Amino acid sequence: MQKKIVLLPGDGIGPEIMDAAVDILETIAKKFNHQFIFDYQLIGGAAIDQLNTPLPQQTINSCEVADAVLLGAVGGPKWDNNPSDLRPERGLLGIRKALDLYANLRPVKGFKQLLSASPLKEEIIQGSDLLIVRELTGGLYFGQPSERNADQSAVIDTLAYTRKEMERIIDKGFQSAQIRNKKLTSVDKANVLESSKLWREIVEEKKQMYPDVEVEHVLVDAAAMKLITNPSSFDVIVTENMFGDILSDEASVLTGSLGMLPSASLAENGVGLYEPAHGSAPDIAGLGIANPVAMLLSTAMMLRYSFALEEEATVIEKAIEACIDKGYYTADLAVKSGEKVSTKEMTQAIIACIEE
Ligand code: NAI
Ligand code: MG
Repeated sequence: MQKKIVLLPGDGIGPEIMDAAVDILETIAKKFNHQFIFDYQLIGGAAIDQLNTPLPQQTINSCEVADAVLLGAVGGPKWDNNPSDLRPERGLLGIRKALDLYANLRPVKGFKQLLSASPLKEEIIQGSDLLIVRELTGGLYFGQPSERNADQSAVIDTLAYTRKEMERIIDKGFQSAQIRNKKLTSVDKANVLESSKLWREIVEEKKQMYPDVEVEHVLVDAAAMKLITNPSSFDVIVTENMFGDILSDEASVLTGSLGMLPSASLAENGVGLYEPAHGSAPDIAGLGIANPVAMLLSTAMMLRYSFALEEEATVIEKAIEACIDKGYYTADLAVKSGEKVSTKEMTQAIIACIEE
């Protein structure tokens, strides 16, 4: 199989973990006789520095004709005081919008060996394995107006959704539950927000179409609590953009480190984008100690969702698990025993497991 993959390393640890992804993909290509063609493009701070825009048109054009897109991370203190249209995050929001990436899938699965790395009690996180399906192109982050009045005495943000935007993400939630453990938790704030009331109505309408899926409605504040008191009660969570953003960061504590969490952002028919859930980690950038696992699990998701290479994806996931089993860990994981390794050493260990 031949596939063209756009690589957007971005900023901070982005390029370091992207190198790991490329090494793994080359290993997979060799083992399974595929050809991956890499097309490096600029985004975020790196693009601002070179081209004075966080999202060059050339990057959008390349992504549109690619088979999939892999992204490292964007942002860092260097650009924090830039005007808002010259912020790295604009590149990220822009590419999601340009590719109409409406569905963000974030699997959260605790590795047995890393239970002690979480600040939560082991007996609470044991057995947690859930998927957050977050809407990505609507809601508060995109609503207009979003502005201050002239004398700075008032401000407005707008939470806007169309029925169609809600329907397609809710469908994705049901479909994801169908291929997992058939339980869907719809998270909203229907006791207060009009948008959430419509959301809940749509979930109720849709559930007739997915009779094999058990559905529950949970208010977002209660969901936030349940996520860390009884995480194994969840299978698939479907929710709007901001609630999903917050809940998925919260869910990351179940895994011990943000460095373990992958994500996939999917369009209805177009190209998918895969990236770790964490940011550019400027505090450790350049030190060679970043955890490559979130990036590599994202790469596995790319093989699975964009290329239907299920076996190849599983081989990567199993290799990661085997390495963690052997006791390898990066500095972000506060585990008690094992061998602390660098980004490159972790990647090499995973490659060795793939080649076995
Ligand atoms: P962050 O996720 O970059 O870092 C939070 C903490 O987790 C840091 O201590 C960092 O060292 C650690 N960490 C994250 N990923 C790690 C990994 N793979 N290995 C080891 N340690 C890891 O979030 P923060 O600090 O809030 O943001 C830093 C920058 O990243 C900001 O400019 C922010 O805007 C940007 N950001 C970008 C995102 C993206 O590109 N998707 C998402 C979130 C933040
Ligand atoms: Mg976030």
